[in-house]
Amino acid sequence: LIIKELTSTDLPRYRMHILDFLIDTYCSNFSISRELAEKISQEKIEALEKYIHDGSATVLTAIYDDELAGFIWLYKHVYFGEPRLHINQIAVNPKHRGKGIGTLLIREAENCARSFRINTIDLNVSECNPIAINLYLKLGFATERRYMTKQIAGDIDGE
Ligand SMILES: CC(C)(COP(=O)(O)OP(=O)(O)OC[C@H]1O[C@@H](n2cnc3c(N)ncnc32)[C@H](O)[C@@H]1OP(=O)(O)O)[C@@H](O)C(=O)NCCC(=O)NCCS
Repeated sequence: LIIKELTSTDLPRYRMHILDFLIDTYCSNFSISRELAEKISQEKIEALEKYIHDGSATVLTAIYDDELAGFIWLYKHVYFGEPRLHINQIAVNPKHRGKGIGTLLIREAENCARSFRINTIDLNVSECNPIAINLYLKLGFATERRYMTKQIAGDIDGE
């Protein structure tokens, strides 16, 4: 297994796999249709091409047997004056899950943060994804804020 940074030159080679991972991640983390997940993922990968090209995103890939086994998409942002590294996406090919690749990708993200002299990594995770939550807790992440919703009962068109 090798970890390497995705370049604009490599992107076309892994594009379809990354697109599939994004669709799968959107479908399993949000209550949206596959059709919408496909549309959003298509937009995201087009944006990613631009971000890799202009250097505003870093994507680390885990390559096994010349195949994309997983990837992590990172970008720098500033949170109330503090520079942070955001994990925008992480996904591992279903056939390679549970083998430590997700852990390895996050460890590499930590190294990446160190190289940027950034002390904090942040991310969002859906409550319906206990596997990812377990991964983050195991690696020392803690909840800083909660995103809460309430379903309003009644017919909003009815008045
Ligand atoms: C979340 C994900 C990246 C984890 O990748 P992975 O390579 O399977 O993770 P690892 O093998 O490094 O597992 C690390 C930890 O994750 C948790 N974990 C992994 N698989 C699990 C499972 N099936 N059930 C419960 N916890 C699990 C455990 O805490 C595990 O540590 P342990 O092995 O000591 O028990 C992978 O499941 C995935 O791609 N999911 C779909 C995409 C997604 O939801 N991404 C997160 C968006 S926020």
